Amino acid sequence: MIDILISGICGHMGRNVLELVLADEETACVGGVDLRKGELQGVPVFDSFADAPAADAVIDFSSADNLDNVLGYAARTGAAVILAATGYTPAQLAQIEAAAKELPVFKTANLSVGINLLQKLVKEAAAFLGENFDIEIVERHHNLKKDAPSGTAYMLAESANEAFEGGKEYVYGRHGMVGARKKAEIGIHAVRGGTIVGEHEVMFAGDDEIITLAHSARSKRVFAAGAVKAAKFMCGKPAGHYDMQDVLKG
Ligand SMILES: NC(=O)c1ccc[n+]([C@@H]2O[C@H](COP(=O)([O-])OP(=O)(O)OC[C@H]3O[C@@H](n4cnc5c(N)ncnc54)[C@H](O)[C@@H]3O)[C@@H](O)[C@H]2O)c1
Repeated sequence: MIDILISGICGHMGRNVLELVLADEETACVGGVDLRKGELQGVPVFDSFADAPAADAVIDFSSADNLDNVLGYAARTGAAVILAATGYTPAQLAQIEAAAKELPVFKTANLSVGINLLQKLVKEAAAFLGENFDIEIVERHHNLKKDAPSGTAYMLAESANEAFEGGKEYVYGRHGMVGARKKAEIGIHAVRGGTIVGEHEVMFAGDDEIITLAHSARSKRVFAAGAVKAAKFMCGKPAGHYDMQDVLKG
C-alpha cells in the first residue's frame, strides 16, 4: 500500500485527488494539509505539516507559496514529492532543483497525458516549420485561476523554443501600438472566464496556411489521475528531478 499525504486537500484539485486515492486499491490517504484543520471523507486535515504523519509521497496542489513547507516535510520524512501547483518564481525553481539533489522530486505544470503528447508534437512542428511560421499560444482557464499565463502555456512555449535553441522571446497579450510582429517572438495570451477547466492552443501561422495544435481538458479529474499515477511512479525512486515524460516512459 502506498501512503499519500495531500497538501491543499480542501481545494478543487485536492478533493479530486482524495477521491481517486481512496478508490485506488494500491493507495491510502494518511491525511491532508490545508489552511484549516478538520476532516474530509474520514481523512484528518492538519493546518501544519508539523502535525502531519509520515507518508511515502506528498502530492501538493496548494499554492507556490507553500513550497518551503512541502519540501521541509519531505526532507524530514523522506517522502517523495509531487509538485503540482503552478506559478513558481525563478528563485523557487532553483530551490526545487537544489532539493532534487537530496530527494526524489516530481514537478510538472500539467499532469494530463494529452498535454504531454502535445508538448512533443509542438517541438516537432516548430523544428519542421522553422522560422517561416509565427508561433502564438492561447490558453483559456476558469475565472478563479490566480496565475497567468498558465504554467502549461510556458511549458509549450519552452518546447517550441527548444527548436530555436531558446532564441525566441516571449511576448504577453499585446496591447496598444506594438508595431509589426517580430520574427523572434512567441506570443502568449491568457483568457479567463466561467468554469473552463483548461484549454491550450498553439498556432503556427505561415504564408497562406495555418497549423493549430490544441488540447482541451474537460474535467479536473484528468489532472488528479496524473498526480496519483506520478505518486505511484515516484515511490522508492532515487533523488532527482522527474516530470510527466518520465512517468509516461516508466
Ligand atoms: N499541474 C497540473 O496539472 C495542475 C492542474 C490543475 C491545477 N493546478 C494547480 O494546482 C493549484 C491548486 O489548484 P486548485 O484549482 O485546486 O485551487 P484551489 O484554490 O481550489 O485549492 C487550493 C487549496 O490549497 C489550500 N492552500 C493554499 N495555500 C496554502 C498554504 N500555504 N498552506 C496550506 N494550504 C494552502 C487552499 O486553502 C485550498 O484549499 C494551483 O496552483 C493550480 O494552478 C495544477
